[in-house]
Amino acid sequence: MKDILAELEDRRSEARLGGGQKRIDAQHGRGKLTARERIELLLDADSFEEFDMFVSHRCTDFGMEDNQPAGDGVITGWGTINGRQVYVFSQDFTVLGGSVSATHAQKICKIQDMAVQNGAPIIGLNDSGGARIQEGVDALAGYAEIFQRNIMASGVVPQISVIMGPCAGGAVYSPAMTDFIFMVKDTSYMFVTGPDVVKTVTNEVVTAEELGGASTHTKKSSVADGAFENDVEALAEVRRLVDFLPLNNREKAPVRPFFDEPARIETSLDTLIPDNPNQPYDMKELIHKVADEGDFYEIQEDYAGNIITGFIRLEGQTVGVVANQPMVLAGCLDIDSSRKAARFVRFCDCFEIPILTLVDVPGFLPGTSQEYGGVIKHGAKLLFAYGEATVPKVTLITRKAYGGAYDVMASKHLRGDFNYAWPTAEIAVMGAKGATEIIHRADLGDADKIAAHTADYEDRFANPFVAAERGFIDEVIQPKSTRRRVARAFASLRNKKLENPWKKHDNIPL
Ligand code: HXC
Repeated sequence: MKDILAELEDRRSEARLGGGQKRIDAQHGRGKLTARERIELLLDADSFEEFDMFVSHRCTDFGMEDNQPAGDGVITGWGTINGRQVYVFSQDFTVLGGSVSATHAQKICKIQDMAVQNGAPIIGLNDSGGARIQEGVDALAGYAEIFQRNIMASGVVPQISVIMGPCAGGAVYSPAMTDFIFMVKDTSYMFVTGPDVVKTVTNEVVTAEELGGASTHTKKSSVADGAFENDVEALAEVRRLVDFLPLNNREKAPVRPFFDEPARIETSLDTLIPDNPNQPYDMKELIHKVADEGDFYEIQEDYAGNIITGFIRLEGQTVGVVANQPMVLAGCLDIDSSRKAARFVRFCDCFEIPILTLVDVPGFLPGTSQEYGGVIKHGAKLLFAYGEATVPKVTLITRKAYGGAYDVMASKHLRGDFNYAWPTAEIAVMGAKGATEIIHRADLGDADKIAAHTADYEDRFANPFVAAERGFIDEVIQPKSTRRRVARAFASLRNKKLENPWKKHDNIPL
């Protein structure tokens, strides 16, 4: 008996060593943690339960029968983050470059299936050379099995990908179908074809970092939702994010203890809006002042800064925030900001996270590049996402709400539950100057008349009261009492029930 127990421990120790000390040292030398170290940091202490530690591949080509490391390059199992269950896989680059074989894929599929059946998020720590070259189509089949499960799990349990090394070729499409992708700066990259292929096909010379590093994907492509300095920071931030999320689509997000007065008055908000309507101000100040303890978890901070997306808590409950940012492009809607916000709204809706929308929008960005790029379809994504969302929706117009953008930004007409405005709100088809130049074209040569018409238009529309008279705005509120009003609004909507008509699925403009 003793021998058997000792053998188990020997086998475990061997499996835990992955590709051996030399490769572990090489991994550390690159500033990367090992797959096991990452799991330890991600999960609560001693909470990890491993599956399939002894699984090995079945390939007999290219001498692979003599190289069958236990675990086959991926560590899988479940554990807890602040006491709540999550499933995790962590690819081990020290074992055959973390490459994906048929059995490696089977291990991932097993935890994907378990996560869906048991209603807990899946977190994938990706560090892999892609499909195991020695296995050919078996490896490709394995990937496709993972993809299919990513799709089935979408909207059922949150799926989070952390890219912590290479992620190339078709392998990128598994993370791409998850809800959030985070990258580690300088040590991770994602691309469909690498720099060598790019050079051959397009003659472009580009480094792996330029082509698919964290900066590229958080600032240019928007493939990734956040970039972190190193493995430790990335894993700590994933823990923080998981705390905001429900375990699955049938549960509510956790209610955390809060140490902040829901009725807190913020007098500084009374002067947030500058006197000059063209002067920007920082919408993030409002978000921080509304949130419990000022805590805001921003998603896609470095992309399309004209719209802000992320999570806060109000009275301990998670709320998704979408806000125009007047500091960037005057807060207008364009292709990038519409796509960014639409995806965020849809995430919130599928996981029953209420949405707070803060509006200061001068309209859609004009121009050929926007029209040629399909701003009509991309803008429609956000409109569609808001209109189909059945979660509680509270909207606050702080200043401008012009034109179609007024409708899009969770207006009353898109089933907004509470539509508030500050007294500084201006709800109109367009700004007073533009409006005057169109409806009083005949007076364009007369500066005095135009000034008078503009003042007239401002008097009539540069306020929230016309909309309030029609019930499109439920209440004009004092800026300083925003936190209290918004928190009470969400509190009153906790039992909201709204269903869309039955359909197989909708046909959102993609
Ligand atoms: C088998 C692989 C491997 C792979 C790496 N290794 N990638 N083994 N299949 N795909 C092995 C290496 O042989 C090496 O083994 C060890 O992992 C570490 O790799 P190195 O090359 O020494 O590391 P590094 O210099 O850091 O380079 C990492 C790398 C490179 C950039 C990822 O290994 C590489 O280019 N690999 C091939 C990538 C690739 O083309 N994959 C297929 C993509 S297509 P030893 O024993 O020497 O330590 C794809 C299709 C998916 O994935 C389709 C889904 C639909």
